[in-house]
Amino acid sequence: MTETLFTGISQLVTPASGPQRGAAMRELTVIENAALLVRDGLIAWVGAEKEAPSTPETHDLGGVAVVPGLVDPHTHAVWAGNRLADFEARVAGVPYETILAAGGGIRSSIAATAAASIEQLVTLARPRLVALRHSGATTIEVKSGYGMDFEAEVRMLRAVQVLSHEFDLLPTLLIHVPPTENREDYVRGVCDTLIPEVAAESLATAVDVFCEAEAFSVEETWRIFAAAQAHGLKVKLHADQFHAIGGTELACWMGALSVDHLEASGPAQIAALAASETVATILPGVTLHLGLPAAPGRALIDAGAAVAVGTDLNPGSSPLFSVQMALALSVRLNGLTPAEALTACTVNAAAALGLSDRGSLSAGMRADFLALHDPDWRELPYTLGANPVRDVFVKGVK
Ligand code: NIG
Ligand code: FE
Repeated sequence: MTETLFTGISQLVTPASGPQRGAAMRELTVIENAALLVRDGLIAWVGAEKEAPSTPETHDLGGVAVVPGLVDPHTHAVWAGNRLADFEARVAGVPYETILAAGGGIRSSIAATAAASIEQLVTLARPRLVALRHSGATTIEVKSGYGMDFEAEVRMLRAVQVLSHEFDLLPTLLIHVPPTENREDYVRGVCDTLIPEVAAESLATAVDVFCEAEAFSVEETWRIFAAAQAHGLKVKLHADQFHAIGGTELACWMGALSVDHLEASGPAQIAALAASETVATILPGVTLHLGLPAAPGRALIDAGAAVAVGTDLNPGSSPLFSVQMALALSVRLNGLTPAEALTACTVNAAAALGLSDRGSLSAGMRADFLALHDPDWRELPYTLGANPVRDVFVKGVK
C-alpha cells in the first residue's frame, strides 16, 4: 500500500461525483487550507488540513489551488498532413462545408492519414497529447475517422492503442464522411465488417458518426448505432454542427453517451437533451476557429441538461491544444459560469465517456488532480494563452 498526504492546498475545489445537470452544475465544494490523502492511486480522504490523518509521507504543494484533472471528451488527435491551405481559404471567405463538398477539408486529411503508418501516426499524435496533458487533461478521448477505408481506420485505432501506454485514452471509432461512390456498400460494410472487427479486438469503446447534410443521414446513423450497440459498443454523435437534421433526437432516443457540437441546435434539440441522460458536449474551439454560432450552453443548462466541454482538437475545425483554454472559452462563448465550466470539464466530461470513477475529488475516486500556479482556482477559467496549471497528477503521481 502506498499513501501520500498532499498538503499546502489554498483551496480544494470540486464538483460532486457526477454527472451534474442544470443548476447543480454550479454547486462546487470549496475547502480552504485543505489536504488530500491518496492511497494506491485513489482518493482516500479530503478535508481541512488541520483535521488530516497523520501519514508517514506528505507532499506540500506550497499553498496553491487544487482542482480535479480535466477530461477531454472529444478529440481527433491522430491525423497526418495539415489543413493550412483550407485555413487560408476559409479566412478569405470560403465556407468549411463548401471546402468539404469540393473534396477538400476532412477528405484531404483522410488522404494524408490513410497514407501514414502506425508508427508515423503515433509520432505525429504524441506531442499533441503531451500538450493536452500539460493543459490539465488527465483523460483524453481520441477518435479515428481519417481512415475511411477500413484498414486505415483500424491503423488509426492501433496508433491510439500504442499511445495508451503513455496516456489515459478512450478510443472511439468515428464514421466520419461517406465515400463519394458506393455509399450504401460502405455503410453496410461498416455495420457488418468494421464494427464487429473493432469490437472483437477491443479497439474502441464507442462508435461516433458525423450526422450532417454533407456527411451521414439520420437513417444511416441509426443503422450504424444499431450495429454498434449489438456489438456491445456505446454510441455518441457529431450533430447539429451546421444543420439540425434530427441526429440529436435520434441519439437521445438511442441512449447515446453524448451528442457533440450543437452549434445549430434549437429549442427541440435542447428539450431532447434536457429530457435524456445523454450529455450535451459543446466545443468552443470550433466556434472560435470556424466563426460559427456558439452552441447554446447557457440555454442547455437552464433547461436542465448535463453539459460537457471538449477541445475537438483536429486540424480542420479546432486546432485547440489546450483543454484549459476550451474551459475558459466556454465561459466567454457559450455563457457558462466559471463553476459550470469546471463541472463541464470534469465529472460531466467523464460521463460523456461513460466514466464515473473520476472528475470529482471525493473519497473513492481516482486521484487525478491539478495543482495550479495560483492560490485562487478562478485563474483556471480566467486565463487565456498562458498555462495556469503547474502540476498534473494522474492516480496521485506527477
Ligand atoms: O468535430 N465535424 C466533423 N468533424 C470534425 C472536424 C474534422 C475536420 O475538419 O478535420 C469536428 O469538427
Ligand atoms: Fe469532432
